Amino acid sequence: MSDDLLISVENVTLRFGGVVSLRDVSLEMRRGEILAVIGPNGAGKTSLFNSITGVYQPQEGSITYFSSKAPPLKVIGKKTYRIAQLGVSRTFQASRLFSALTVFENVKIGAEDHGGIGIAGALVKGPRTRRGEHASDRVAISQLEFVGLMNEAGTVASQLSYGARRRLEIARALATGPELILLDEPAAGTNPSEKLELTNLIRRVRDERGVSVLLIEHDMKLVMALAERLYVLNFGSVIAEGTPQEIRENQVVVDAYLGTHDQASA
Ligand SMILES: Nc1ncnc2c1ncn2[C@@H]1O[C@H](COP(=O)(O)OP(=O)(O)OP(=O)(O)O)[C@@H](O)[C@H]1O
Ligand SMILES: [Mg+2]
Repeated sequence: MSDDLLISVENVTLRFGGVVSLRDVSLEMRRGEILAVIGPNGAGKTSLFNSITGVYQPQEGSITYFSSKAPPLKVIGKKTYRIAQLGVSRTFQASRLFSALTVFENVKIGAEDHGGIGIAGALVKGPRTRRGEHASDRVAISQLEFVGLMNEAGTVASQLSYGARRRLEIARALATGPELILLDEPAAGTNPSEKLELTNLIRRVRDERGVSVLLIEHDMKLVMALAERLYVLNFGSVIAEGTPQEIRENQVVVDAYLGTHDQASA
């Protein structure tokens, strides 16, 4: 599977004291894929995202990111901003929106942050930041149109419905112009119609923006509808990899996770 690799995770082990969050994890993702990571609570899914984005530093193994703009990057030990600059963006399991700012301001901060101004600079708007102002306005507007939130541009983020908040998080992550977006439970807390909207939006992120999508999600309907391939984590280890159909039919996965979970989200 070496054709057009985007991310290669090789034998990664991550420990916190006595807790092993990732145990000899290997994973490959191709450019243009929608790839999912599923598994029970505490399986290590978010730890994997944190390792790919430079938040956590695994003690063993290697992670290589193949940007189209730069030579292959060995991720472990690199700063989060450096990895982000090369095109890796993410959303968080727990919302990190600025709830007192408007929808527009939230996305604009994402766009300006990428310009090296930083969130503090974007908020203070010193002379240094004005230069990038119009460009980041345009970027923000384009993301809001894309996620269907342009009519809410002036709304304070805390006033949004849950589904709209989750779409805003995706808009903000897209504002940095990523090649790869990591979505950590993007549909958590949303209702069925919002889940359907998010499913369509995530597919459009890949199809229309050409951004590769690595997705963590507990909702099996959403995951199976979107992902072309899945990895299953359990207690920090990869227990299966395959297409949605292969994963559904894998008895080890059914026993460890899907047996109870499929019913819950059916
Ligand atoms: N910063 C940390 N310090 C200590 N332990 C951690 C840390 N981050 C993660 N862990 C541990 O690593 C394990 C995996 O956690 P992780 O958050 O990656 O799971 P997850 O698969 O994302 O679970 P969930 O579905 O509940 O979000 C857990 O035992 C967790 O307590
Ligand atoms: Mg998690």
